[in-house]
Amino acid sequence: MKGIHFLVAVVLLALASSFASASDPASLQDFCVAIEQSDSETAVFVNGKFCKDPKLVTANDFFFSGFQNPRNTKNQLGSNVTLLNVDMIPGLNTLDISLARIDFAPNGLNPPHMHPRGTELLLVLDGTLLIGFVTSNPDNRLFTKVLNAGDVFVFPVGLIHFQFNVGHTNAVSISALSSQNPGLIVIANSVFGSNPPISANVLTKAFQLDKNVVTYLQQKF
Ligand SMILES: *[C@@H]1O[C@H](CO)[C@@H](O)[C@H](O)[C@H]1NC(C)=O
Repeated sequence: MKGIHFLVAVVLLALASSFASASDPASLQDFCVAIEQSDSETAVFVNGKFCKDPKLVTANDFFFSGFQNPRNTKNQLGSNVTLLNVDMIPGLNTLDISLARIDFAPNGLNPPHMHPRGTELLLVLDGTLLIGFVTSNPDNRLFTKVLNAGDVFVFPVGLIHFQFNVGHTNAVSISALSSQNPGLIVIANSVFGSNPPISANVLTKAFQLDKNVVTYLQQKF
């Protein structure tokens, strides 16, 4: 009998904690197709953002075409990220999801970065990628793998990760991200390319580098 009481208590606790949800509340409507604020006179159904009048919503609000086209990778990193977020598909508004295509030249790199608001699920369509993510303090453990076409990998929200084309051909991947606006923090750009710059003394100490190296890096970014 005591055991049953204990079980009931555990179930009640579990229920209570699911009410104190740490995620976004569920939508109160089928969709809230984002509309420009300038059109707000005609906009109704405010839910954080202005939503297009459902009567005026069309299939094209949920549509994007041309994602199959290779992107130009002739830049310093040899990679090109195309993010399909709410700015590209207004129908994604409030729906907690977005999509990215990444093109890699041979040796192309999507440099260490993180998404503050989105877990990423990456599918390799073509080529061979060395990928990895690092856990938070104190372990800073690296999880890494070489992926080929058809392989899928998860990058948990907020953790620093990268993708590097280690094959001899171009590579292409598609990622789903669990936010309409996952956010992007590229570590090197944030640290060495901030505007205005972080004091070189701070970076010299933080990265245990020669100050000349720090000022060189700050010029680069
Ligand atoms: C990515 O590719 C598009 C289309 O090919 C191009 O317009 C854009 O400049 C490229 N971005 C970078 C960072 O190379």
